[in-house]
Amino acid sequence: MEPVKVGLLGLGTVGGGTVNVLSRNAQEITRRAGRGIQVSHAAARDLNKVRICNTEAIQLSTSLQSVVDNPDVQIVVELIGGEKLAREMVMRAIANGKHVVTANKALIANYGNEIFAAAQNKGVMVAFEAAVAGGIPIIKAVREGLAGNRIEWLAGIINGTGNYILTEMRDKGSHFNDVLAEAQRLGYAESDPSFDVDGIDAAHKLAILAAIAFGIPLQFKKVYTEGITNISQQDVEYAEQLGYRIKHLGIAQRTGTGVEMRVHPTLIPERRLIANVDGVMNAVLVKGDAVGPTLYYGAGAGAEATASAVVADIVDVVRTLTSDPENRVPHLAFQADALSDVAILSMDQVKTAYYLKLQAEDKPGVLADVTRILAERGISIEAIIQKEPKKTSPEQDRTATIIILTHRVIEGSMNQAITQIEALDAIKGAAMRIRVEHLSK
Ligand code: NDP
Ligand code: HSE
Repeated sequence: MEPVKVGLLGLGTVGGGTVNVLSRNAQEITRRAGRGIQVSHAAARDLNKVRICNTEAIQLSTSLQSVVDNPDVQIVVELIGGEKLAREMVMRAIANGKHVVTANKALIANYGNEIFAAAQNKGVMVAFEAAVAGGIPIIKAVREGLAGNRIEWLAGIINGTGNYILTEMRDKGSHFNDVLAEAQRLGYAESDPSFDVDGIDAAHKLAILAAIAFGIPLQFKKVYTEGITNISQQDVEYAEQLGYRIKHLGIAQRTGTGVEMRVHPTLIPERRLIANVDGVMNAVLVKGDAVGPTLYYGAGAGAEATASAVVADIVDVVRTLTSDPENRVPHLAFQADALSDVAILSMDQVKTAYYLKLQAEDKPGVLADVTRILAERGISIEAIIQKEPKKTSPEQDRTATIIILTHRVIEGSMNQAITQIEALDAIKGAAMRIRVEHLSK
């Protein structure tokens, strides 16, 4: 049988990795897919650039459209990134009756609902395993492996660059910008790295995970998003002293009143496995009602780790080329007409515990005022540390750092308490908060 012809859009980190994995493991992949897979066409911006893969046997072009429109190409693999052009090319490929594989989380999170509807109309597949957690087959695990469960919550380290930065800051005391530059050099970061450090990339991935976990449409704009740029070396150290690690987590949780979707730095007890996931590695904890908690771990970014997921999707598509479109695994795990419009909760309604960092005048009664305000809102305290003033300047001479760990409370109540605390004369500047999750139930 003729090999299946693949058209690649993009020959960068992931595109190059995909060509390499398909070529190195060609025999194994053919045995799995039942047919050979050949990258016959590819497009990139600059055809003179040195590539990480051998492109001799590939017909190259600078025109994405020429690949998407080529009648020989059966599967279009979109690895250019970005939104506008990627969406245009993917919709065009679908209109041409071609199957699509993509690693583009921004594309799926923002336009997935429209893309999947178009694909369903045309009877083609759009596969996106590489869009979440790099090489970890988390989409397949949640969509297929856990199909018997009612998923209760999931929490994951789903941005490799952010985790790499936090790990290097903790282990080596490295500076944020230096580690980010290294992540860019290694090909982990997005072309706009603010997507990584501001939590946008993790929010894209969380919107996708929440959709397939709970059977809801993709709703990226409703994800509460906070990045890692406010985390200081000091916070990392204080967290350690309290027995916690700071990780950037995406959390999606079903509650009695709706679904929480939030991305933010989080203190996690250091004994939890996920607290020990370091560097570019990702991990996703998924709690199903039948199976209980399950943990998925692996490389969250990088050429071949991501290619592993892209190639698995290509193999999946090849295996189903002759199958009845009505009987394929639904794109978002649940049948398209069975998605539910359950409410997405605002952050005010979310219940969690907190790490608070306050700068306070070092005088009697301040701590009593702070704890009274918390108590009035029903917020109980788990631990308090007071750091003596640093004797480096007259101002700092009188300013102590107070760290408070609280028990769980509704965020709306915590916001009110923080406003009152910040209004105290003895409190300097804004309170710093990091949410705390125990991930044990
Ligand atoms: P790169 O920037 O390394 O590669 C992008 C490729 O697309 C380049 O080859 C570039 O060409 C080509 N390209 C971009 N625009 C055009 C255009 N207008 N016409 C033709 N070619 C174009 O990105 P990555 O490989 O890192 O990422 C690709 C996708 O995979 C993104 O959606 C990203 O979010 C996702 N992803 C990335 C991971 C990673 O670890 N890097 C992990 C998981 C997902 P040229 O090389 O000539 O400039
Ligand atoms: N920039 C992303 C990350 C790539 O660092 O996780 C993988 O999606």
